[in-house]
Amino acid sequence: MTNPPISNYNINDPKIIVALDYADAADALKLAHQLDPAICRLKIGKELFTAVGPKFIEELTHAGFGVFLDLKFHDIPNTVAKACSAASNLGIWMLNVHASGGLEMMQAAQQAVSGSETKPLLIAVTVLTSMNQAGLNQIGIQTDLATHVLNLTKLTQQAGLDGVVCSALEARMLRDEMGSNFQLVTPGIRPIDANQDDQSRIVTPTEALKMGSSYLVIGRPITLNPNPLKALEAIHAECIHVS
Ligand code: C5P
Repeated sequence: MTNPPISNYNINDPKIIVALDYADAADALKLAHQLDPAICRLKIGKELFTAVGPKFIEELTHAGFGVFLDLKFHDIPNTVAKACSAASNLGIWMLNVHASGGLEMMQAAQQAVSGSETKPLLIAVTVLTSMNQAGLNQIGIQTDLATHVLNLTKLTQQAGLDGVVCSALEARMLRDEMGSNFQLVTPGIRPIDANQDDQSRIVTPTEALKMGSSYLVIGRPITLNPNPLKALEAIHAECIHVS
């Protein structure tokens, strides 16, 4: 009799980050209460955070959820460090800054986060996926977009951060370049049978993990599903199978 393959999946470190893209606390909480904190974390972006404030994060952390605070800080080093410190004190699991804020800004952010009790993961956004080559050129960057992403990713690692947000399609190249200890957080994920919505360059959870993604940011395939928990569980099962 052959034994089933042993999965490398770490059940204490779920791969799925559900994007809570809501305008108010009631809708966000209604969804969160249908999910299982043992198999996902939650991402709060600028819209929800601006509407509901930091108290809401405490509600989610008390309910057992790891929270990724996706506020993409970008300012002078001192201001970003203070913002990262304040965010860390909320007990979040992950937060982010813009790599284009520069080495000094990212180092200040990393130092602030390291000094906090909870030490959340700190990652950087390299080039926004809404940017194309023409957009980069308009702001005075003549470097080829993929090279610019790689350069900013290397700068992020040099500053001591934990990883970057990137398209899963960039993950294989970045995984090869950055090694196994660097976190690659990838949105644009769609299960094989899901609606593509407004995402144009999508990959399945299986493909993303195989290409080197560390964490999958997934919104509408879970939040708009009539049974969000069932949708989450199906993707979670897929993640375990691939790992
Ligand atoms: O609903 P969907 O799965 O498309 O949501 C993806 C989430 O990831 C949203 O919160 C979106 O803003 C975010 N995101 C993205 N593409 C990026 C960066 C972030 O879709 N390049």
